[in-house]
Amino acid sequence: DTGPGAGPAPLTPLAVPATRAEGCPFDPAPGVERARREAPVTRATLWDGSTCWLVTRHQDVREVLGDPRFSADATRPGFPFLTAGGRELAAVKPTFIRQDDPEHARLRRMLTAEFMVKKVEAMRPEVQRLADDLLDRMTAGRDSADLVAEFALPLPSLVICLLLGVPYDDHEFFQERSRLLLSLRSTAEEVRTAQEDLRRYLTRLAQSKRREPDDGIVSRLVARGELDDEEVSSMGRLLLIAGHETTANMTALSTLALLRNPDQLKRLRADPSLIKGAVEELLRYLTIVHNGLPRVATEDVTIGGRTIRAGEGVLCTLNSANRDDDVFPAGDALDVGRDARRHIAFGFGVHQCLGQPLARVELQIAVETLLRRLPDLRLAVPFEDVRFRHDMGIYGVHALPVAW
Ligand code: HEM
Repeated sequence: DTGPGAGPAPLTPLAVPATRAEGCPFDPAPGVERARREAPVTRATLWDGSTCWLVTRHQDVREVLGDPRFSADATRPGFPFLTAGGRELAAVKPTFIRQDDPEHARLRRMLTAEFMVKKVEAMRPEVQRLADDLLDRMTAGRDSADLVAEFALPLPSLVICLLLGVPYDDHEFFQERSRLLLSLRSTAEEVRTAQEDLRRYLTRLAQSKRREPDDGIVSRLVARGELDDEEVSSMGRLLLIAGHETTANMTALSTLALLRNPDQLKRLRADPSLIKGAVEELLRYLTIVHNGLPRVATEDVTIGGRTIRAGEGVLCTLNSANRDDDVFPAGDALDVGRDARRHIAFGFGVHQCLGQPLARVELQIAVETLLRRLPDLRLAVPFEDVRFRHDMGIYGVHALPVAW
């Protein structure tokens, strides 16, 4: 089923998640980049020996993610899982990120008002205050620290806790469980236990908000009366996990990418009004949701000249799509002055990231504040010693030792 212009498929299907071992740690895996150039819709092999399609180009990824014939329902046969742990996650009643319309839309609609641009923009002073407090503490009497532990992770974690009405004092508990859920190395057993711990924690929280309401999202969801405590718990879990790991890793990886591109760093420092565009460019260039969004075809569909049959799985690699030279000339270069607005780091179609207005505000404040307050910011270890998150579903760095 090779169509005109599709090019020859590589002889062996690509094993995914593809490794970046030989490549630049900011670039997509070399195997995925080669697929984009040579056979943009290609076959891939998963951990359990099953196969799926890998869709790598900007245009093709948008077609898949925008087409209701591709389902995000992980209980459908043929849905591609990156790990045994990922398959385990789907075993528990999922919420709307892994459901299709109309159920997806019904649930998502209950949250849209919470993450509207206007509502989130009003949080700027609060986010700024939290960022300043964290930097005050990080820099007091010291000249080096781990930026992940002391700034990049606590900032979005504090914000999502405030929004949800989750006590930040419990952060070690839920950050550890999130880490296990997002690790590609976790066993099915570890995922099951972490998932169950979080389910119980958030169900208890929902019950407590029923007794003592506050003005957090969990409490408001309970008060609507349309969801039982388990459904509120699933939505709360999604927001809690999505709300801090993503922005945290973007913050740390953005800082590192700027330190490695001193000319771009200099430009941004010289003209802070570039910050909004620079954050879009960093989202594009780094695309931390790096292993491909999973979908399964419910009918035969032709994408990029190839027929994907009903019941076949697809992984849409956002990171290769965001380096597509047809859309982003010289896409492998970080250019903080570029118009990067067509990037799809937040996905595309009905599941496009609900929290993106919040992520943008957090990232703009985090990067701007860091650069302004620490003019001598630098890496405190050799670049070769930085531990990248090759083993995680959300890319970034495990730690970022910096000095100032
Ligand atoms: C969905 C990326 C921050 C909440 C998504 C998707 C991507 C993504 C790629 C699409 C998943 C799919 O189609 O399968 C990111 C990135 C972020 C970020 C790169 C930060 C830089 C956030 C934050 C929140 C959030 C801060 C919440 C507070 C969600 C939710 C969904 C989602 C609820 C599911 C939407 C749906 O299925 O309708 N995100 N996200 N995200 N994100 Fe984010």
